[in-house]
Amino acid sequence: MPDVALGFPAAWLRHNCPCEHCRDPVTGQRLIEITDIPDGCGVTVETQTAASVTVVFTPDGHRGVFSGDWLAAHALPAGPDPRTEDGKQLWRAADLATGLPGAAWDEYLSADAVRERCLDAVARLGVALLRDVPPAPGTVLEVARTFGFVRETNYGRLFDVRVIADPANLAYTSREIPPHTDNPYRDPVPTLQLLHCLRAADIGGDSGLVDGFAAAAALRAHDPAAFATLTAIPWPFAYADKETELNARAPLITLTPERRVAAVRLNNRSMGPLRLPAPQAAAAYAAYRTWAALLARPEFRLTLRLTPGDCLIFDNTRVLHARTAFTAAPDTDAERAGTAPAERHLQGCYADLDGLLSTLAVLRRSR
Ligand code: FE2
Repeated sequence: MPDVALGFPAAWLRHNCPCEHCRDPVTGQRLIEITDIPDGCGVTVETQTAASVTVVFTPDGHRGVFSGDWLAAHALPAGPDPRTEDGKQLWRAADLATGLPGAAWDEYLSADAVRERCLDAVARLGVALLRDVPPAPGTVLEVARTFGFVRETNYGRLFDVRVIADPANLAYTSREIPPHTDNPYRDPVPTLQLLHCLRAADIGGDSGLVDGFAAAAALRAHDPAAFATLTAIPWPFAYADKETELNARAPLITLTPERRVAAVRLNNRSMGPLRLPAPQAAAAYAAYRTWAALLARPEFRLTLRLTPGDCLIFDNTRVLHARTAFTAAPDTDAERAGTAPAERHLQGCYADLDGLLSTLAVLRRSR
């Protein structure tokens, strides 16, 4: 008895058998365990049409009927992994010079096709921009709820990016912040970030976005040794304040087992000291310097100025974000008196890609 039919191993076909004994007809979930499949089982094709194939397994005579479409959809070669660089549209600043993909908040809420287009942009390009989102505190949480679940952290359900008197994080100052990903000291990191502009700075405070996957591909092409170092060495990241102490270790560039780029993680503010023998540590710092210099190149950095009502949604495992330093002149009496802050004010929250991709897939189903 052959152990392969139609190019599929017998155990593969048996494990994926759609019959009611193998899969629950209501949930579609598998009922059999791998250990229920006889070791060394065989398979033969009993009947075959364009629409379906009936196979019979040995030694128990189990019969399975597969749809031709399902087998074709699962045949080799597999398509690109949508989570990696292979499933993305990589970009440099010039590619998005005409503007970020996105929509006005009203259109986004009222039309499934618009929502689908925006969520698809996050999946494919790593970023979308919603405009005219009412610049009222808390609205960023409503944006997150349109496609998934808010990821609450030690910073709260949402966080205010504005200057405060006693900051635990440099985000809460008016300093320049170079390209980074958020919360690299968390395991797992939040895979999506939202930033909603309630008030822009008078001077400075421009936002920058960098496609980390495009930059990683450039690093691999131009300095393969640095790329190999960054993908091989886990770097410690840490954050601590009065109530919190977070630690995680991960490479700055994460590859899949097929060695394709799956995530980037970089945040100079929270990188810990490497604990490696001196030659490896020296090589790691040299590679990190090369990577940071590449990420700072203007060709990679898209500069935009968020205005009140703008809400960015971006993939925190791929797109690095930055801002320039800013100053703000007081506009109101309260601001002049120092009783109300005069600075740029963003509200942000975290969410996750799996929820966004699920919402996108369900929207696509209805078409
Ligand atoms: Fe940030």
